[in-house]
Amino acid sequence: MIKRTLGASGLEVSAVGLGCMGLSFAYGPAPDKQDAIKLVRSAVELGVTFFDTAEAYGPFTNEELLGEALAPVRNEVVIATKFGFRSGDATAGLDSRPERIRAVAEAALKRLKTDRIDLFYQHRTDPEVPIEDVAGAVKDLILQGKVKHFGLSEAGVQTIRRAHATHPVAALQSEYSLWWREPEAEILPTLEELGIGFVPFSPLGRGFLTGAIDESTTFDSTDFRNTAPRFTPEARKANQVLVGLLGRISLQKHATPAQVALAWLLAQKPWIVPIPGTTKLHRLKENVGATDVDLSKEELREINDAVSAITVEGARYSADRQRLVDR
Ligand SMILES: NC(=O)c1ccc[n+]([C@@H]2O[C@H](COP(=O)([O-])OP(=O)(O)OC[C@H]3O[C@@H](n4cnc5c(N)ncnc54)[C@H](OP(=O)(O)O)[C@@H]3O)[C@@H](O)[C@H]2O)c1
Repeated sequence: MIKRTLGASGLEVSAVGLGCMGLSFAYGPAPDKQDAIKLVRSAVELGVTFFDTAEAYGPFTNEELLGEALAPVRNEVVIATKFGFRSGDATAGLDSRPERIRAVAEAALKRLKTDRIDLFYQHRTDPEVPIEDVAGAVKDLILQGKVKHFGLSEAGVQTIRRAHATHPVAALQSEYSLWWREPEAEILPTLEELGIGFVPFSPLGRGFLTGAIDESTTFDSTDFRNTAPRFTPEARKANQVLVGLLGRISLQKHATPAQVALAWLLAQKPWIVPIPGTTKLHRLKENVGATDVDLSKEELREINDAVSAITVEGARYSADRQRLVDR
């Protein structure tokens, strides 16, 4: 697979990575561990070199899973993980105190069965800890060789600038897709100016943009999507117009809606690397295949015009989750 470099960091990764969260967490019961390990190893065989996890996924089990799956190919892949939640629990509040960052790094290294974390993101900006202290703690880990690159997730532009002034930020990971284009206003220009790469999460709109979900889809009671206003049956019904548009374009391109959604992201900037997640091999192959779909300037304009005319129904996060976002 073709490679991309995340901004000025020099960190080279496959143009499409694998988001591993759903292999342990968030979208209903996790698949069997051995099946998940097989999927991760299939991704490596397909040319994926960029794997995304977090302390909070599980918590802990997703890092363990990746550690086991990637140990035989450790030097061929880039592993990104995240710190920033109290006790690693995404519902327990934020904790980016330097001592906590150091402890998470040590524990993550063990779970990942490795001697270095290639990219260590702050999962959410912690208003209680100055970002300079966070960047300083990660910088120390980098000087010790335990971490290679520093990243942020869902940070706002002021935080990005302050962090970058303390230690270069290699990548920002935030939600970005055809139904969440907010980063285009301020975030992308700032990243371009500073030479920071961008890793869009939920690039398939948590599955919605693929056409696999409609108003009658039911989610497991533990599925995150039950809490997202954008996934109420009414919102899903209203938002099918977006799926219809992707369906039309994908027919023209002899591709699938998922591939068009990913190709659109890849076409925005050469330093953008989406990390779609899946638990299924055929979808993994499909998503990786997005790198073969080239959208012309005209097609991109057509998509932009059509999407701009659509009002997406429902907030992406419930109010309590939105409060964790630094904007
Ligand atoms: N930094 C953060 O705060 C944050 C937040 C969310 C996610 N992330 C990261 O971003 C990664 C990706 O985001 P995401 O998993 O939330 O959303 P996503 O990649 O937009 O969508 C994943 C969902 O789409 C389905 N899917 C995947 N490929 C498909 C295809 N070709 N056709 C039909 N359905 C398909 C998957 O179901 P199946 O498993 O059934 O295929 C899964 O339910 C995560 O794994 C995680 O690493 C980070």
